[in-house]
Amino acid sequence: MSAIRRAILAGTLAALPVVAAVLPATPAHASDTLRAHAEARGKFIGTAVATSPLANESAYRTIAASEFNQITAENAMKWDATEPSQNQFNFSGADQIMAFAEANGQQVHGHTLVWHSQTPSWVQNLGADAMRSAMQNHIARVAGRYASNPVLKSWDVVNEVFEENGSLRNSFWYQRLGDSYIADAFRAARAADPDAKLCINDYNVEGVNAKSTAMYNLVRSLRAQNVPVDCVGMQSHLAIQYGFPNIQENMQRFADLGVEVRVTELDVRMQTPRNTTKDATQATYYSNVVKACLAVSRCSGVTIWGFTDRHSWVPDTFPGEGAALIYDENYGKKPSYTAVHDALAGGAPDDTTPPSTPGRPAASAVTATGATLTWTASTDNRAVTGYDVYRGTTRLASSATNSVALTGLTPETAYTVHVVARDAAGNTSANSETTTFTTPAGPGGTGCTATYRLVNSWQGGFQGEVTVKCASAVTSWRTTLTYPSGVNITQNWSSTMSASGNAFTFSNAPWNGTVPAGGSTTFGFIGSWNGTGTPPSPAIS
Ligand code: XIL
Repeated sequence: MSAIRRAILAGTLAALPVVAAVLPATPAHASDTLRAHAEARGKFIGTAVATSPLANESAYRTIAASEFNQITAENAMKWDATEPSQNQFNFSGADQIMAFAEANGQQVHGHTLVWHSQTPSWVQNLGADAMRSAMQNHIARVAGRYASNPVLKSWDVVNEVFEENGSLRNSFWYQRLGDSYIADAFRAARAADPDAKLCINDYNVEGVNAKSTAMYNLVRSLRAQNVPVDCVGMQSHLAIQYGFPNIQENMQRFADLGVEVRVTELDVRMQTPRNTTKDATQATYYSNVVKACLAVSRCSGVTIWGFTDRHSWVPDTFPGEGAALIYDENYGKKPSYTAVHDALAGGAPDDTTPPSTPGRPAASAVTATGATLTWTASTDNRAVTGYDVYRGTTRLASSATNSVALTGLTPETAYTVHVVARDAAGNTSANSETTTFTTPAGPGGTGCTATYRLVNSWQGGFQGEVTVKCASAVTSWRTTLTYPSGVNITQNWSSTMSASGNAFTFSNAPWNGTVPAGGSTTFGFIGSWNGTGTPPSPAIS
């Protein structure tokens, strides 16, 4: 940042993002973008940006520009991108990010100068003195390049320097240089860009725990030695299956040391696929992080690690998990978008407009116990957060999308159903028109149903189990499980099996064909499957 710009900012509110200082904040309205609300609150709302979709997808550019007032390069400013060979610098990606921010009135957080990951092997193979010089040179050149650019506001100087137990990470930096590399990196960064806020960044430091306490102690001790540490970054790669951290309390203790805090890489992953319940939990996590930052005056803002599930590091890094961001893969707003929006907008949403009436549902893939319903989606002044499917006044299912698979239906029964849409403020649409479908007889004769259960899964395979339950007595039974391609059943027990393509028909073994009225019997099998995450469930007939 230039000295002139800094003087202007110092005279106003140093914590405000550059854009808010240049364009005075106007009151935000309920339907405004995330950045309009954030600017009105004196905070930034940011996203990590990847260079390839930035170059190739206009929807990506439009949302990144309109919804966020801060960006971080997801990879383009890392060492392997900026100095792949010694003293051969490449700023093409980094400059692309900077140009986008300049064009859109956004501030940039530089990420990251010194890290054990995404650092070329030539660095890792240096001896102690050469490694220290290479680090200082890298910082001088990379941070120095943007030092006079007012858009570049802050740097992650060191990233992920702690082990989970709070000791310093046994990285190649530590092995060669001991703990001194950390203070040296901060001093070099201050020399390279005297105006940038200099941060230490890490994951699993959101709540009060051994790692965050080690970070707290290090920051306090570095500052006591006049090492220029200005800011603490909490990455915040959260997951709904783990509890929500006490982030506000933790932020506050860092703030009380006099440092800025920021959420640098927020995402909230889940085991895929999404459903309405998981989406709602995720939305609460997003909301709570934003509210914590709003409640701590030294928290400058929240950066989300991307914005669309179309481009997220989560599925590549955590097999079986994903859907961690606030837009879906088609750039549709998820409940978590609304949660971030409403938290930034502050207080209860004033939205009283209901979603439009959903289309009449169409039933397909009707089996003895299940059916798929699909309908034309509703629209809303903000966002539709989900749908409920009713049979009369009984809710049969909920869905985040305009389609749902009904399960647990009774064979040989007529179902007359309708759909209702809802939004984040709790407004519900009028009932859709009804549709009626009738389930056929169950496997093995009237009154039997088959229920599938995934028992266990591992890389390349899984164990499944089916329970055949009969309302009236039978002396034989039969059921067919149809899988998507890529699944093969290699072994089965308590049944005899025949396969036709991906349809596997199981009939009773000689000894378990007789099921009394109200009784059940169970068979099992082993499947092989070449995907990742949760193995697919079969369609049962
Ligand atoms: C991740 C990027 O999102 C991926 O594209 C890349 O392959 C690996 O790095 N902590 C960090 C980020 O500080 O730089 C990481 O970003 C995610 C974890």
